[in-house]
Amino acid sequence: MLTALLLALCSIIFLYLSYKYAVGRPAGFPPGPPRLPIFGSYLFMLLIDYKYLHKAALILSKWYKSDIIGLFVGCFPVAVVHNGEGVREILNDQTYDGRPPLFLSKMRDPGDCVRGIFFQEGILWKEQRRFILRYLRDFGFGRRFDQLELIIKEEITDMLDMIRNGPRYEHEHHLVKPGGYRVQLPLLFNPFSANSHFHILYNERLARSEMAKLVKLVQLGLQFQRNADDYGRLLSIIPWIRYIWPEASGYNKLNEANLYVRAYFSEFVDRHIDSYDDCSERNFLDLYIAEMKKGLPEEYGFNREQFIMGLVDFSFPAFTAIGSQLSLIVQYMMLYPEVAKRVQREIDEVVGSGRLPTLEDRKNMPYTEATIRENLRIETLVPSNVPHKALNDTELMGYRIPKGTVIIPSLYAYHMDKRIWSDPEKFRPERFLDNQGQLCLKLDVSLPFGAGKRLCAGETFARNMLFLMTTAMLQNFDYTLAPGDTLPDLTKNNSGLIITPPDFWVQLKER
Ligand code: HEM
Repeated sequence: MLTALLLALCSIIFLYLSYKYAVGRPAGFPPGPPRLPIFGSYLFMLLIDYKYLHKAALILSKWYKSDIIGLFVGCFPVAVVHNGEGVREILNDQTYDGRPPLFLSKMRDPGDCVRGIFFQEGILWKEQRRFILRYLRDFGFGRRFDQLELIIKEEITDMLDMIRNGPRYEHEHHLVKPGGYRVQLPLLFNPFSANSHFHILYNERLARSEMAKLVKLVQLGLQFQRNADDYGRLLSIIPWIRYIWPEASGYNKLNEANLYVRAYFSEFVDRHIDSYDDCSERNFLDLYIAEMKKGLPEEYGFNREQFIMGLVDFSFPAFTAIGSQLSLIVQYMMLYPEVAKRVQREIDEVVGSGRLPTLEDRKNMPYTEATIRENLRIETLVPSNVPHKALNDTELMGYRIPKGTVIIPSLYAYHMDKRIWSDPEKFRPERFLDNQGQLCLKLDVSLPFGAGKRLCAGETFARNMLFLMTTAMLQNFDYTLAPGDTLPDLTKNNSGLIITPPDFWVQLKER
């Protein structure tokens, strides 16, 4: 009898403590779902929408009738914000400029250190970001620069030639079928975009015959993007899961990609360090090496390992994000042929067919520019943004946010907010045009690249590439369906760190 009583008492205490744990949260923390031991609220989010966690968070926001929700990913407290005011406040207030120490960021480096730009914070992040942006500008990054535009034009010419004549080298079979005109997305654009970016970094670009390693880099870059998620997957909650389910947890794929990408950049960093000469400045890499030799304070981070990861971070989106966004544009051009036709009419009127479109043409092509902007809005490439972190105890939208809380300004929710866009589900480039059909930047309050001090470092380069590549393709080709092809199904797009369409072959027709 006594044993039974004791057992009942223990069960009641256990249930009470479990309940307290599940619904307990720091005082004044935003409302949100309960949590389980170890997993926090992450499993609930997977149950709501395992594929698109940014949508799961928005659904929770509706359930709790609050534009800000508080939850737990493992033991990390997380605040997700779903309205314009909150998103802007986070992006523009430096209190939220931290980055959470997700396992995903640590596993990129063999010493388990966090390096690079994306996952850094504090003085090291500031110094590195400032230095890289300052000096890459001299080589055309982040501004109009004729020499760089010429290089991009050569890359696009190479790409068009490959599309028309089919693969010339083994590695090009991943990009185009023999006979030409049938291309694989999202892979197609990335090697050419990466090559343009590498020209900024070290003044060289690979010929088509030499691109085998670059094509592999692009494939593995995509593999990394697709195997992560907004919160670093289960790996960020229970990193030891990699020993039990290395494949299912995504660890093997992420690790394979990490090792290759790191080795790729280490190789040319070391080549430059070995051949460095004080008396000649060959490129941006030499400037960085000169800075390393100055003996600056350790915390500024000018050393070989940081150099490699900084370059990885500044290049990674050039060989993954640009091709993905371009492929999302292609999907929309196939689904909305009347928009594609209107863009083509504008290209024909402004550029004609005798030369490739240039950045100078852009101001005369408002509908094309509006189409790209509308695609960046409706298909938010980084839906949950790169996670931020509160650097101090603070207050957000009337709630208390403890120091260290992961902060997610949901760009997806912002871009899909009826209060801002009235008809956000509609793909409507005209929303950015005034009565005279001119581009009106005041109407474009979208934030695909974030804002504030953490603003995407590659925004200008990305916007230029999106314009030049999209117009070159539509000037020369129509997107069509070969027998057996179907129109793109947007619900099949993958959600990882960024949204990527699944690999698909597209049939092109000469215009
Ligand atoms: C369509 C293409 C792209 C989109 C939509 C995009 C979007 C973003 C977003 C939303 C962020 C996070 C901002 C934040 O944390 O608040 C970001 C960060 C960043 N992006 Fe991009 N990006 C693109 C292309 C690029 C390119 C081409 C580069 C470089 C070549 C680049 C370099 C970076 C870097 C270095 C950061 C980290 C900034 C920091 O933490 O300080 N991005 N990007």
